[in-house]
Amino acid sequence: MRKKIVAGNWKMNNSLNETINLINDLKQNVGRTDVKVMISPSFPFLKTAVDQLKDVNIEVVAQNINDNKSGAYTGEVSTDMLKSVGVYTTLIGHSERRAYYHENDELLLKKINLALESNLNIIFCFGEELKDRKSNSHFDIVKSQLDNTVMKLDAKSWQKIVLAYEPVWAIGTGETASADQAQEIHEFVRNYILEKFSHKIANDLSIIYGGSVKPSNAVEIFNKKDVDGGLIGGAALNSNDFIQIIKANN
Ligand code: PGA
Repeated sequence: MRKKIVAGNWKMNNSLNETINLINDLKQNVGRTDVKVMISPSFPFLKTAVDQLKDVNIEVVAQNINDNKSGAYTGEVSTDMLKSVGVYTTLIGHSERRAYYHENDELLLKKINLALESNLNIIFCFGEELKDRKSNSHFDIVKSQLDNTVMKLDAKSWQKIVLAYEPVWAIGTGETASADQAQEIHEFVRNYILEKFSHKIANDLSIIYGGSVKPSNAVEIFNKKDVDGGLIGGAALNSNDFIQIIKANN
């Protein structure tokens, strides 16, 4: 079922106390909403977040997983570890992972397959760089990012997938894709999935937008018919802003 989603990616920010304070603010102020609210704190705080959000309708999401099930991978975190602390969804393919940790499509597909084998849900991020948009190859880039990864999945796996279109040039830059630019890619992706899979899969899939979403632009972006919500970075670190963004998707 297609859902409205607002997910906060806190990246490598906040101490334990700051994380707890932010969660308390959200608990007190998110209220009843049809929007699926998610937060993604850093690994050391996932268990605390899960415990604090027991009985609250806010899901805790991991920012990353390793592509191996277990073993001698110093510094890494496995899907089973996440499940053992009550985390059942992970981001995969965030542009910062692609750019700074050289995660390519091949590795991302391994991560996707392992997450699915482990019965985790996935928020899969993709999006073009500025040079791609300037050379008008953004549709081709997006298509190839999807072809090399999620388009290889079987029909059944799509139930566990949310797509997040995040144009790299709009992440953390203050520059947002216009609502029309977001809609154009979301529609393109939904149509492509319809063509390759089915009307039902395309229609049930949530496709969220990420890249400098803030209270002042959220309503316009979320009102577009193929934009089902947002993956929020900077603005999710401020509880007032994040709550306003959640409300913008109601
Ligand atoms: P931003 O980050 O909202 O700070 O641009 C979005 C993201 O990286 O998911």
